[in-house]
Formats: sequence, C-alpha cells, structure tokens
Amino acid sequence: MDDSPKDPQDPQDRRAADRQQQQELQMGGMFTWRGRFGPMDLDLSEHTFSPSTVSVLMADALEVEAGDTVIDAGCGSGILSIIAAKLGASRVVGIDIARDTVAVASSNAAKYGVGDVTEFYQGDLFEPLPEDVEADVVIGDVSGIPDELAVESGWFPGRNGGGPRGSELPIRMLEGVRRILRPGGRVFLPTGTLQDENAIVSNARELLDRVTKLVERRIPIPNALAESQAAMDLVKRKVIELTPRGSRFTWTARVWVGARP
Ligand SMILES: C[S@@+](CC[C@H](N)C(=O)[O-])C[C@H]1O[C@@H](n2cnc3c(N)ncnc32)[C@H](O)[C@@H]1O
Repeated sequence: MDDSPKDPQDPQDRRAADRQQQQELQMGGMFTWRGRFGPMDLDLSEHTFSPSTVSVLMADALEVEAGDTVIDAGCGSGILSIIAAKLGASRVVGIDIARDTVAVASSNAAKYGVGDVTEFYQGDLFEPLPEDVEADVVIGDVSGIPDELAVESGWFPGRNGGGPRGSELPIRMLEGVRRILRPGGRVFLPTGTLQDENAIVSNARELLDRVTKLVERRIPIPNALAESQAAMDLVKRKVIELTPRGSRFTWTARVWVGARP
C-alpha cells in the first residue's frame, strides 16, 4: 500500500505523514542541522537522537565565554557540544547513554573543526566524567518525556525516556550538577508540557540560584502521537498537557538557565 502523504488537510494523509517522519527518524543516516552555526550535515547512527526543535532553542539560548569548560549531558549527535566549542569553550565534554555516542559525536565534532577541544563518553549522566572536570557551563538536555511516550513517539532510538513522568531523569541530572559545576557556573535546562514540568522547575529552583526562563515556544505534536492511548492517559493523569490549535495539538517547550550557589 502506498502510505505516502498526499493532502495535508486530510487527517488520514496527515497521520501517514507523521508515521513516515517517525520511520525516517528511526533509521539514522544523515541529518542537516539548520539551527545556530548551520547548515551542518551530521552523521547519526540508528541509536542517535535526531536534533529537534528543542535542540534549536537550546542552541540559540546557549551562552558560553571564551575559555569555558562545558559539559553536555545527553549530547546525542554532539550538536550542542559543537556549538559550545564554536562559541569559544576551551574544553567540551559530551556524555550520552546511547550506543555509538563516542563514534558519532566525535566524528561530527572533527568534521566541523572542533575535534581538538571536544571529548565524548558513553554512560549514565555525569558518571563517566574524568576526575579533573569542573565545569563553567552544563548543558542539561537529557531525555525528558515519559518513558511510554518515548516508546510511542519513536523520537528516542534507544527507547530511553526521562522516567515514568519524564521528570525523574532531568531531576537526577540536576542533583548531580553540584559535583561537577563550579560555584556560579550555569546550567541550561529545557523543560516542557510533555513531562511533569512543575516537578523539574521546582527542583531547579531548590538546587540553583536565579532560575530564569530564556525562551518559550509552542511546538506541534504529530496527531498520531497526540491521539495515542499513551498520550491520552498521560493527559488524563495531568502528567502532560497538550493544547488544541485548529485540527492539531501543540505542546510548550521552555529553556531555563540557573546558577550553582
Ligand atoms: C532530547 S535528546 C538531546 C540530544 C542532543 N542534546 C540534541 O539536542 O540533539 C536527550 C539525550 O539524552 C540521552 N540520555 C538518555 N538517558 C541518559 C542518561 N541516563 N545519561 C546520559 N544521556 C542520556 C539520550 O540518549 C538522548 O541522546
């Protein structure tokens, strides 16, 4: 059966377009980054997260000073590490739990001329970091949607979400920041209504000073995902929040910055 989308106004064709997009995202291959410092053709393996609208928002919000040490937790393809290096960081350490992280992110960083200041590790949060790392900036973009939604969406090729409410992993990341960030160092943190956002923001306010929202954006969600049983259950339990817009649904993404006391 030809499953390709034909009429964008037709709900069935729109769902086919959503499915096609999800399948393409799962296959790995090449991804053209069109955000800050783009275009960049990034290599992805079948286990690598494909940069998203949130990656673009994070890239735009990121502030790095010349000579900074930056830790990129949940680095995926290495795109935000590459941007941190291009902004002047003298050392960028990226970590991701996904297979192939070291190969994929290292090769992307080398391709875009920042191989000498970047290093990548595979593992859980800050656990694989070398002893000597004390960061000026942490990019805290780890998986943050509920596990069920991560599986349903196909956005996370490793199928690893942010915990049952999408907040558990980001909160664990925030709790680990104290060990590796210098006092006064900053954390850039994405949140959104596709997770238990209040839990993350209130933890950030307890653990960090001067937590400030930098940007907010409504993002459309594929209808097939919004109408899935997993999403509908999470909405009903008030874990996630979707806003109707015309015949579609949107969620709201936010990027925050806070400083270590
Ligand atoms: C939303 S993606 C962001 C990737 C990248 N920063 C970007 O913008 O494209 C979140 C990343 O967190 C990774 N991740 C999930 N659990 C992790 C963990 N426990 N430790 C480190 N990384 C993890 C995922 O594999 C995924 O690559």
